[in-house]
Formats: sequence, structure tokens, C-alpha cells
Amino acid sequence: MYSCHRLVIALITVVYLIFIDSNIVQSIKVCRSISDYSLLNIAKKNCYDDPVTDLNISEIIRSWPGFTAEEHYLTTEDGYKVLVERSYSKITQKTPIIIVHGIAMSALGWVNRGNVSIARLLGELGYDVWMLNYRGTWYSKGHVNLTTNNPEYWKYNVNDLGNYDVRSTVRMVYEQTNRKAIYIGYSMGTTGFFIYSSTFPNEAKKYTKGMIGLAPAINFRGTKSVIRYTSPVWPILKRVIYSLWNGEILPGFSVLLKPLLASSAGIYTIQSVVNLIFGDDYAQMDPLRYPQFVTQLLDTAGVEVWSHYLQIYESGVFQNYDYGEEINLQKYGTSTPPKYDLQKIPVPISLFVGANDWLATPLNAEELYSGIQPSIRCGYHVVPYEKFSHTDFLVAKDLPTLLYKYLFEVIREHDEGRCEATTTRNG
Ligand SMILES: *[C@@H]1O[C@H](CO)[C@@H](O)[C@H](O)[C@H]1NC(C)=O
Ligand SMILES: *[C@@H]1O[C@H](CO)[C@@H](O)[C@H](O)[C@H]1NC(C)=O
Ligand SMILES: *[C@@H]1O[C@H](CO)[C@@H](O)[C@H](O)[C@H]1NC(C)=O
Repeated sequence: MYSCHRLVIALITVVYLIFIDSNIVQSIKVCRSISDYSLLNIAKKNCYDDPVTDLNISEIIRSWPGFTAEEHYLTTEDGYKVLVERSYSKITQKTPIIIVHGIAMSALGWVNRGNVSIARLLGELGYDVWMLNYRGTWYSKGHVNLTTNNPEYWKYNVNDLGNYDVRSTVRMVYEQTNRKAIYIGYSMGTTGFFIYSSTFPNEAKKYTKGMIGLAPAINFRGTKSVIRYTSPVWPILKRVIYSLWNGEILPGFSVLLKPLLASSAGIYTIQSVVNLIFGDDYAQMDPLRYPQFVTQLLDTAGVEVWSHYLQIYESGVFQNYDYGEEINLQKYGTSTPPKYDLQKIPVPISLFVGANDWLATPLNAEELYSGIQPSIRCGYHVVPYEKFSHTDFLVAKDLPTLLYKYLFEVIREHDEGRCEATTTRNG
């Protein structure tokens, strides 16, 4: 029965891929305004080829004046091979900064906005930037024993991202630089750190000097996102994903969206779906970067990562993966999964929250901020734009004035130990 499904899907895919490879789609250019995106705009005035689109992450970094890229492949204790990309400029001599991405994206999101890419701006300020690509994503598909065709490969959950991928990265950066890093997480990148630093607080204190959470996610309390509706149908969807793609959610999905980039109607269609998931905001769409947003930011995720997040959303409790009573007893020694104790997090934390973030809601961020020890609270910042959504943290056209201006000040605060000073002052 499954093989018949597979045949039909394979046929549709082949026809579609031929279309995507055709000249019609390949001639998509980057335009100065959304309304310029049109196949019929023969002259393509206001449109031009974007040289960045086909480069890999290291090539993009090396194309910036004065920048060096290094690829560090790590093997985690459970056998996954992940890429940590290092980027620094001629003047770099400051503190290492570790940046960790969100679900369904990769570290490409930190380099694909030209001269306002966050990795580039941080390098120009003299920081030494290290970007983790979580297991399963575009550059991190290796494993010592498993291939991505094996469903076993995709059975990792958010706990594994924190306690293997983040943990190995933080340790490696310390070994390479001999300096404590500042950790910046976005969405699932924050969840990874909260899991790691509450599970291994002594290590986190030894290797990091502070953490900045962009759109921090612990339990999705009050989410308005339509993806909460995957909850009731998840047991079925999950079986479909295992049977069609071995446990990888929507592999290669972004390529399929390419034809929509050939017209402004197509782009608004994509954006309206993005809005329903992440919070509505058309005003911050960036015409010059929209094609990269779609083709490079939409990476894949393992099916159990989403299972884990849904469990947390349904129970409302920030806790380890729930395998069911019997296996929980074997794994954890308790019938329910252990909670992550936010009180154990040992380093100063600053948060940036979007008022219109439908996924990692302000409610969930407030709960997090009041759940950590008062002595490590180093600032709760709401981005000063009422429509600021979850994806705006990555692609808003005014990021430099809406976010980076404040973010870079907060990084200095952590770097100069001013958060520690707060700690002592408050007791
Ligand atoms: C990026 O491209 C360079 C060649 O320019 C290659 O050496 C490197 O392995 C590639 N890196 C990744 C992560 O694909
Ligand atoms: C890989 O396979 C070897 C040999 O079967 C086994 O000893 C080892 O534990 C496996 N490693 C991982 C991380 O699964
Ligand atoms: C980025 O490049 C554009 C076009 O060359 C320029 O107008 C803009 O000022 C640059 N921005 C920064 C932050 O360097």
C-alpha cells in the first residue's frame, strides 16, 4: 500500500522538479519592491541577479571584505556529526559569540542578508562568531553509523539538541578559544540552551558568561499559531512522515516554493501562510531578501523534535521527552518525564521578545523570565514595534534599527560583566 503512495508522490515530484529546473523558474531575480516580482516584467527593471543565492555558508562569509570562515565538524556523544561554522574579521579579538538557530532553518539565516547579516555585523564589531547547525539540517546530516534514510537517525528530540549539540559546541568553542562565550539563541536555539544549562549548570558556568534569548521558547503558552492545530492529528501525521520521508519533516520543501517567487501574488501567498504560523506582519517584508528567506531559511527538522514541542505545549510543562509510562520508567526511573529546572540556570540572561510573536509568545517569555533566579535576570526587552513577529527576528527589513541597535548594547553589557555586577548588587 505504501509503495503505491510512494510511486505517485515520486512521479509528481519528478514532474515538479523538472519544472523547477526549467528556465522559467531559474530566471527568478531579486527585485527592489515586492510588486516588481513578476514573470511578465520582461525588462525586469528594478530586478537583478543575486550573487549570493547559490553560495554555501563559508563562501558567503569569505565574500565579505576582510572575513575568514572555518568549518568545524563535531561528533556528538550520540554519534551525530554537526557543523559549527566560525566567522571572524581582520579586527576580531573579542569574546566568542555562539549563535544557535531555530526549528526548520540553519546557520545560513545568520549570513544571508548581505551587509546586514548578523554574523557580518558582529565580525565588524570585532567578535568571534561560532554558528551551530543543529543535527539533521542542511550541513549537519552525518552520523557515525546511520544515514538519513534510516528512521533511527531522525529519532532525536529537543533534549538531544540541548544536551548533545549545544553541549558539544559550547565545550568546543571554549577549548578552541580558551575564553568564555556569550550564547545567543533564537527560538529553538534558546530552548537548547535552557535544557543544556539547567541539566549541566556547572559546565554552562565554566564555558559561558551569559545568554541572550531572541524569541525565547519554553512552552508556547497562549500561542495563536495555526500549527497548534497539528496537535490532534499529530499521531497520524507522524506516521505519514515516517512512511514517506523516514522521519524527516518536509525534506527539500523550500525548493518546491521557488515557482511562487516568480510573482508578487505568489510571494504574498507565502507570506500569508508565514503570518498564520508566526504572527501577522506584511510591513516588514524585505523585497531584496525575500527569495533567500524562502529558499535558504526553510530547512528541515526531525519528526520527534516537533513531537517533543507538542508534548510541552499540551502539558504546559517544560520537560523532557515523554516516551509513555513504561519507557519513561526505564529511561528516567519515573513514570513521567523529568522537568527542566529553570532555577538551576547559572549565567545571566537577557531576553528579546516580539509583541506580535504568535509562536514563542510574550506570555511564555514572561513565565521563563520569572522562572529563572532573580540574580541572573539581566533584562527583558520588548522589540519597539507592535507587529514584530517570530520571523521578524530573522528577516524584518528594519532589523538594524528595531533590534540590532539594542542587541549590540546588551552584548556589551554581558561582555563587560555588567550583568554580573547586577547580580552582586541585587544580592
Ligand atoms: C563550501 O564550498 C567550499 C568550496 O568553495 C567547500 O570547500 C566547502 O566544503 C563547502 N562547505 C560546505 C559546508 O558545504
Ligand atoms: C556505532 O556502531 C558501533 C558498532 O555497531 C557501536 O559499537 C556504537 O555504539 C555505535 N555508535 C553509536 C553512536 O550509535
Ligand atoms: C549596505 O549596502 C548598501 C548598498 O551598497 C548601502 O546602501 C548600505 O548603507 C549598507 N549598509 C551597511 C549597514 O553597511
